[in-house]
Amino acid sequence: MVRVLFVCLGNICRSPMAQAAFERRVAESGLESEVQVDSAGTGPWHVGEAPDPRAAEIAAERGYPITHQRGRQISAEDYEGFDYILAMDRENLANLRLECPSGLHHKLQLLMDYSDLPGYPEVPDPYHGGEEGFEIVADLIESAVRGLLSHIRQNDLQ
Ligand code: 4NP
Repeated sequence: MVRVLFVCLGNICRSPMAQAAFERRVAESGLESEVQVDSAGTGPWHVGEAPDPRAAEIAAERGYPITHQRGRQISAEDYEGFDYILAMDRENLANLRLECPSGLHHKLQLLMDYSDLPGYPEVPDPYHGGEEGFEIVADLIESAVRGLLSHIRQNDLQ
């Protein structure tokens, strides 16, 4: 089993979208029994909340609904339990590095490391912007989860 955790700040916009977009790809490939997926936020503010309606609308339009997800904050056990811990932006990554036990830092990466779109090293925080920011977020996430699944198929599921 390969375990993948997507991490953003609030766990109500970007990482729920990444979780659902990746789960859809995993299901399309028939790999549900081999890849486990979850998401979390570095911050506590939206624990227990449903996703942001703007993120939910775009995810539904694109065929990977997120309304069933609920916000949660990353916990100490997550660093042990997941194999890939993928941050949306550099601030998320820096916060993960502060908490992650030193022997497990190899698990921490930026999600966009798996994208082949040039010029987008991170998935920008869409929370304080407009609708178009969420479309860009969805485009970036979809490109990166495609690359992520092909990486996992080649490296972990042989
Ligand atoms: P997310 O977006 O990290 O993609 O879930 C945000 C959600 C909430 C806040 C910031 C970003 N906030 O400041 O409450």
